[in-house]
Amino acid sequence: MKQIVVAITGASGSIYGLRLVEELLKSQCRVALLLTRSGLEVLRYETGLEWEGSTSARKQLMRDYFGGSHRLDHYDADDLFAPVASGSSAPDAMVVVPCSMGTAGRIAAGIGSNLVERAADVALKERRELILVPRESPFNPIHLENLLKLSRAGAHILPAMPGFYHRPKTIDDLVDFVVGKILDSLQIKHSLFQRWGEG
Ligand SMILES: Cc1cc2nc3c(=O)[nH]c(=O)nc-3n(C[C@H](O)[C@H](O)[C@H](O)COP(=O)(O)O)c2cc1C
Repeated sequence: MKQIVVAITGASGSIYGLRLVEELLKSQCRVALLLTRSGLEVLRYETGLEWEGSTSARKQLMRDYFGGSHRLDHYDADDLFAPVASGSSAPDAMVVVPCSMGTAGRIAAGIGSNLVERAADVALKERRELILVPRESPFNPIHLENLLKLSRAGAHILPAMPGFYHRPKTIDDLVDFVVGKILDSLQIKHSLFQRWGEG
């Protein structure tokens, strides 16, 4: 069973993170879902989901949202004692989706001041797959330099840039395109979009 950490930060597009968790659980993965403080706020603003209260209350709300799966864990963004903060229990992969420029910059600088940044730091040092899904437009040179630095350190930069050659009809089609690309990177089978040359 693959163990994947999914982190939702304060960039626009929390729906990508939600949809990814849904698909990972469907594929029998074990998922640790982390949200930064801004991630929780943007999630509420964009989706209306109010995941508030204690860590365990939030974990229950998340499990309810994802159909009660016990393969879903949640740790507070300040909890540097969580298993994913340690190289000795590094997951198979980590995906930061959406990834804010703030989080990207702090991972690039090796700051590790919250659980998302620390878990990403661990993924890089333990040579586990780290996929960052940045969302910002336009990028400034600082963003671009940070993303290049992260790519050179081993992270996969997979921007939230849906294609249009599969002729999307709905927002869900656009979201699924990006989530399908993430699953491809994780080598998890899916049928979220029709591949070029199929059909
Ligand atoms: C509604 C909303 C949308 C935002 N969208 C983005 C975005 O697309 N990209 C980004 O880098 N920051 C975005 N921000 C700003 C980040 O939330 C902010 O920089 C925050 O400090 C990031 O914190 P975090 O990296 O700890 O999650 C947005 C903020 C709000 C309130």
